[in-house]
Amino acid sequence: MDGRDTLIIAIDGPAASGKSTVAKRVAAALGIVFVNSGAMYRAFTWWVLRNGADPADTPAVLDLLARTDFVCGEEGGVGTVAVGGIPMTRAELAAPEVNAGVSAIAAILEVRERLVAEQRRYASERGVVMEGRDIGSVVFPGTPHKFYIDASPEVREARRRAEGIADSIASRDKIDSSRKASPLVVPEDALVVDSSELGIDEVVATVLEAIQAKGTPRPG
Ligand code: DC
Repeated sequence: MDGRDTLIIAIDGPAASGKSTVAKRVAAALGIVFVNSGAMYRAFTWWVLRNGADPADTPAVLDLLARTDFVCGEEGGVGTVAVGGIPMTRAELAAPEVNAGVSAIAAILEVRERLVAEQRRYASERGVVMEGRDIGSVVFPGTPHKFYIDASPEVREARRRAEGIADSIASRDKIDSSRKASPLVVPEDALVVDSSELGIDEVVATVLEAIQAKGTPRPG
């Protein structure tokens, strides 16, 4: 035990702020697992659509939720998710219809309770860098390692366009920030890093320095 296996790093921020890239790099540097919690909300959205349900039809979504298994694993230092026994691929998780439906699914309290329980169970077994919208505020409020990665709306839209992904960032932001259940917020004690003008290396270095300043094991 060197402390890494109990390390929990929470990274939140709006869509396309760069938080996934940063979280992945920080996890690799610290030798712990990177978990994209959004992938779990996306996986369930994919499953809802595959079962012919409308993400806006809450009773139908809840009925499916009660009958759905999630299995969270790890491959090469990255968290994986299987839903209903089907391992999710990146392409499925980033499909335009999933982008369009995921905010409605993520606004349902019971869905959040179920996935938050899965996230906590996962982190009880290993150190993680987990990124999402409510990781510092709701999932792991007790961790001293909280970060909020931001970027201007223009920069974020441009990043998604450059990736060739059809995604209406502005409308997802609005739903994610204004929903009743665990809206996107800056956790009180989080370090806010604006990535609009910074290179990825600088953001990663800032985050790693802040973690080490709190007495966490050095990477390597
Ligand atoms: O990070 P992402 O864009 O892949 O997330 C997809 C959606 O999932 C996002 O619009 C909001 C929701 N989400 C959430 O509500 N809570 C999280 N911890 C992660 C994602």
